[in-house]
Amino acid sequence: MKVDILLGLQWGDEGKGKVVDVLTPRYDVVARFQGGPNAGHTLEFEGQKYVLRSIPSGIFQGDKVNIIGNGVVLDPALFKAEAEALEASGHNLKERLHISKKAHLILPTHRILDAAYEAAKGDAKVGTTGKGIGPTYTDKISRNGVRVGDILHDFDKKYAVAKARHEQILKSLNYEYDLTELEKAWFEGIEYLKQFRFVDSEHEINGLLSEGKSVLCEGAQGTMLDIDFGSYPFVTSSNTVCAGACTGLGIAPNKIGEVYGIFKAYCTRVGAGPFPTELFDKTGDQICTLGHEFGSVTGRKRRCGWIDLVALKYAIMVDGVTKLIMMKSDVLDSFETIKACVAYKVNGEEIDYFPFDIEGVEPVYVELPGWQTDMTKMQSEDEFPEEFNAYLSFLEEQLGVPVKIVSVGPDREQTIERYTEE
Ligand code: GDP
Ligand code: IMO
Ligand code: MG
Repeated sequence: MKVDILLGLQWGDEGKGKVVDVLTPRYDVVARFQGGPNAGHTLEFEGQKYVLRSIPSGIFQGDKVNIIGNGVVLDPALFKAEAEALEASGHNLKERLHISKKAHLILPTHRILDAAYEAAKGDAKVGTTGKGIGPTYTDKISRNGVRVGDILHDFDKKYAVAKARHEQILKSLNYEYDLTELEKAWFEGIEYLKQFRFVDSEHEINGLLSEGKSVLCEGAQGTMLDIDFGSYPFVTSSNTVCAGACTGLGIAPNKIGEVYGIFKAYCTRVGAGPFPTELFDKTGDQICTLGHEFGSVTGRKRRCGWIDLVALKYAIMVDGVTKLIMMKSDVLDSFETIKACVAYKVNGEEIDYFPFDIEGVEPVYVELPGWQTDMTKMQSEDEFPEEFNAYLSFLEEQLGVPVKIVSVGPDREQTIERYTEE
């Protein structure tokens, strides 16, 4: 019996999809526990590239069961497009992909509401992905949501009640919209969804665990986007932290084993909100270009900056991270020196903890020598340059958790496991 969790420690896009795919052969089940099609998880192998939004990243490795948990919000239209594309490329999903009856449905009007609320916020807008995430979770919490399991019982009525309520709100906001196309695709999505197995995922997962099976839980977004612990209000609407796997799948906390915390060797953020180590200079542009830092789903340019160890330490604390995974090391291959933020300056005073509000804090950096070596073809840690090992040791010392996996390129094969003593 084993439940491990892999989650992002920054503002998302750390490379979760790639590593879940790499780790999948070690597990029987892969399960998503929160978020929805705001996620874009990229996988590359055998010269192919896939971007997953709602489907777990364990779908490509053998016949592993993949579960969309109760904590996820699902848009049937986007799900259909995603699943059909995978099926067209030869990946059979219907038997292996199970969907929780308790997952909430993103309605067409949730997407319109997302846009309307953003427009109403003006300059203070969050910069959401526009997928209806916030309004869907709002309905869940206010006990007005429509769930996957409702598709099987009195669905038309439940849909009509929710839609009418949303239309009232949109009217009060004076927001113009046209639902025709969205609604058509959505109902086609509902029909398509019916071909999948709807499950009580909490029973399924706990049943598998009692048979001795192992589960890998796949996080979406990142800890800095968590509704409670992220840079509120510039966050997503779910618990992206470790505890989210318990509520989003029905797994008791005492069943959790390893918590893999994943981070980039630098830092990015997409959408609005504070980002203490953001770079507005040539170095920032260089990271963006070398790292191809454009959103996997929206294509939006990601804001880039140096690694923020104050924020990372905070994320490691709230997530209970036991193993670290460092991604995109290769993006820094050509840099002469590399900076890492070790403290913040607030009103002239230096602090080393993550405060209530990070707006306006100034980063305090240490500068380390770069390795100036192409790492993309390396196969083992024995090949790591001295300066890279020094960078890893520095991070481990600062963060207090070992870096177990290093990624040196987007491909499945460009992943190096470290066998250092713990
Ligand atoms: P996720 O949302 O956490 O799954 O991450 P995304 O897929 O949104 O963004 C990560 C991007 O970095 C994708 O384009 C990956 O193909 C790419 N990537 C992942 N690992 C590496 C790496 O080690 N090096 C480089 N250069 N790219 C990587
Ligand atoms: P993955 O899983 C990066 C950001 C949005 C916005 C904020 C709220 O690929 O790492 P939402 O649509 O969730 O209400 O938007 O959260 N955001 C992400 N940023 N990666 C993601 O997912 C994200 N999902 C949401 O840009 O700032
Ligand atoms: Mg992503």
